[in-house]
Amino acid sequence: MKRTTKLLTMILAMAMTACTLTACGGGSAKGDTLTFGTNAEFPPFEYVTSSGVIGEYDGIDMAIAKQIAEESGMTAAMENMEFDSLLVALQNGQIDAVIAGMTATDERRETVDFSTPYYTATQVMIVKEDSDIAAAADMADKKICVIQGYTGEVCVQDMGYTYEAFKKGTEAVMELTNGKCDVVVIDSATAQKYVSDNEGLKIVEDPSAFASEEYAIAVQKGNTELLDKINKAIEKMLADGTINELAVKYTEEATAE
Ligand code: ARG
Repeated sequence: MKRTTKLLTMILAMAMTACTLTACGGGSAKGDTLTFGTNAEFPPFEYVTSSGVIGEYDGIDMAIAKQIAEESGMTAAMENMEFDSLLVALQNGQIDAVIAGMTATDERRETVDFSTPYYTATQVMIVKEDSDIAAAADMADKKICVIQGYTGEVCVQDMGYTYEAFKKGTEAVMELTNGKCDVVVIDSATAQKYVSDNEGLKIVEDPSAFASEEYAIAVQKGNTELLDKINKAIEKMLADGTINELAVKYTEEATAE
């Protein structure tokens, strides 16, 4: 009896070691950690804070990422990098998925696959309160600031305007508040956050000039196993109102500060 127990314990211990070594049951290439890449310069979707939902990262996307991992029996890890580097890191296998308020565009679809969209946004213009810019066409003779690699840059480019590109939204907004540029083109919810954080700014919308955009999570082309898990979790969170609640929560938090 005693011997059998000992043997069983040994077998169990060996099995457990094997399990940790191969990280079985995780279903992802990196075992039971699901590694997301983001660019935490995009409130209310992702930003750095003292205690976030995933380490020092907080925001709508971070809460969504955490839940996706949990629903799939995994733990979410976050890698913060430049927005421009995200899709390359994904293709290199450095990260499993990208969650970064990233718009699912046809151009990006050429290199990665996107999940079911989870949020609809649009580009807007942030201007000084006394600005005479009332529509996108009014930007023609103005100094325009965009953020490098964002869809806002593509929009302004397509309109044929010259612009200056910054690495971070906060840098572009600082340029605006310092009077060194006239307008910042950026996603709506993030614009809202910057306007509530800075005196003397307002948002100008022009739906006829800026199409609506859908945020989705990117995975490596053909990674249907992971995409299915992500889609299942997103669809559940859309259906039960979780994503809506997160959007409200983080938008209120952003404006309350
Ligand atoms: N939606 C825009 C895009 O896809 C901006 C996203 C910026 N996201 C970020 N985490 N910095 O280009």
